[in-house]
Amino acid sequence: MKCSFNKPVSPRKKKLVCECLHVTEEDLMESVRDRKLRTVDDVTRYTEAGGGCTACHPLIRQYLTYLSDRSPSCSDR
Ligand code: FES
Repeated sequence: MKCSFNKPVSPRKKKLVCECLHVTEEDLMESVRDRKLRTVDDVTRYTEAGGGCTACHPLIRQYLTYLSDRSPSCSDR
């Protein structure tokens, strides 16, 4: 049996949504889900994403749309 102790672990690459404020996709999605954020302003308030050059605002809107389409609604119960 091979021992893997001390074997270098490659860090998971994290996708940045907002390069100015270094907000990752993981952090953004978690905040949107947990805090039920609905607008870019909400996202900026809680994560700071979008608080710089604003180039990421269209991408943040895409995440908001994607996550709102996937959130359970009353009809899903
Ligand atoms: S990339 Fe998000 S504010 Fe600039």
